[in-house]
Amino acid sequence: MANIDTRKWLKSHHDTLFPFFPYLKKRSIEWLFDKLREKGGEKGALYIHIPFCTGRCTFCILTKELPTGNTLKYVDTILDEAREWRDYFSSIQTIYVGGGTPTSLSSEELKLLFAGLRDTFNIDNDAELSVETTASELTEDNMNLLLELGVNRLSVGVQTFNLCLRKMLGRRGGGKEVVKKLNRAREMFPLLTIDILYDLPRQELRDVIADLQKAVGIGVDGISLYPLIYAPQTAIAKQFEQPPIETAIDSFENAKSFLEDAGYNHVNINHFSNGRDKFRYSTYFNSLGNILGFGAGATGFLADCFMKHKSTSEQYIMNNVGNVFSVPKTIIPVLWCVSQLQYGIVDVKESKRRWGFDPLEAFAKTIEKSVDRGELIIGKNEIELTSEGMFWANTIGTEMAMEYLYKGKGELESLEEKTSKIAKNEIYTQ
Ligand SMILES: C[S@@+](CC[C@H](N)C(=O)[O-])C[C@H]1O[C@@H](n2cnc3c(N)ncnc32)[C@H](O)[C@@H]1O
Ligand code: SF4
Repeated sequence: MANIDTRKWLKSHHDTLFPFFPYLKKRSIEWLFDKLREKGGEKGALYIHIPFCTGRCTFCILTKELPTGNTLKYVDTILDEAREWRDYFSSIQTIYVGGGTPTSLSSEELKLLFAGLRDTFNIDNDAELSVETTASELTEDNMNLLLELGVNRLSVGVQTFNLCLRKMLGRRGGGKEVVKKLNRAREMFPLLTIDILYDLPRQELRDVIADLQKAVGIGVDGISLYPLIYAPQTAIAKQFEQPPIETAIDSFENAKSFLEDAGYNHVNINHFSNGRDKFRYSTYFNSLGNILGFGAGATGFLADCFMKHKSTSEQYIMNNVGNVFSVPKTIIPVLWCVSQLQYGIVDVKESKRRWGFDPLEAFAKTIEKSVDRGELIIGKNEIELTSEGMFWANTIGTEMAMEYLYKGKGELESLEEKTSKIAKNEIYTQ
């Protein structure tokens, strides 16, 4: 593989968005409401961020905080915000409640949240309702409550079953206990998915495969397999060096083969499914569908605009109106192509039909280099990533964006760099 020492491996889909930020234009919320009134109600997805969490994980990059006395007020604020948007959606097809750890809300608060959302929006009968939680909170009571609320897809952050690695990550409980809880969750929920990490310090290939073997043994429907992002602010990044990239490539390729042999499809760069788990929320996200984000730090995308909320519960309670940033029409197809790469395929015909935009022409140099490296295959109507390409998908997508937006000049930025570089991008700081 050429130039792996010098080429930046971007691990997060957030990294692919950085080149777009200088092009965004700040707008008022009224400007967006006017635009939506013209469009009329459309179907969409909701993301609800619950930042509260009592965990002390050494690696966590999510917007999170210890619960204080304001959790009820926080839920009320989310519902107040939701009511402002009710007229702009015809129906809701999927809701993703993420965190933090959403189950750190009390049962009354969770009931209030779900009842409020149902009162406000027309939620499809077969909507996918996902809630994230962590193994230490997988109690019988919590699981019964989630089922009662209509949650049909439970997403559990496992990270690893390996005791030494769990300690390093600051995770609570041992692997055996986690397996036991997941087996019970498997019996209770229609869809069960888990998050597993690779590229951890001192983690060997056999550790990654052992984790996946356990997941397959439990019969989970979906596995999100993320490489650890060594964000500079995390304890783990301060203590450990990243393993060499060859180790990560090896883990990714072997994990992919292992899961495919076990009957799972590689549905997007970080997600494998046994066919039952549709992960509808991520499909919305990667196809620039209508997503409304509520809560601290939540982002949304609607009518060619990103929306971003302030990042703490206190700030959100004080002001629940998100910042709005419009994406110029001319670069929407670029954003779409980069997002589609998450699935490993860009439909050239669809891009031409929708926008008269030819990705083969717009990204000609990046495509030529990636084809030479064996990362891309050009079909009759599509650009398709190979297994190697899936590993590099975020990097390739960002290279494409840089080629079109900056004629290939400038550096790729990532969440693994000093935040000062990224902080210049106001969408992350406001
Ligand atoms: C909100 S967290 C998980 C929910 C729950 N609080 C838990 O810890 O199990 C969502 C997921 O983000 C992923 N994540 C968090 N920090 C990460 C990092 N530094 N690198 C890669 N993935 C990370 C983890 O896999 C985690 O399960
Ligand atoms: S990984 Fe989950 S449990 Fe751990 S600190 Fe982050 S949000 Fe909390």
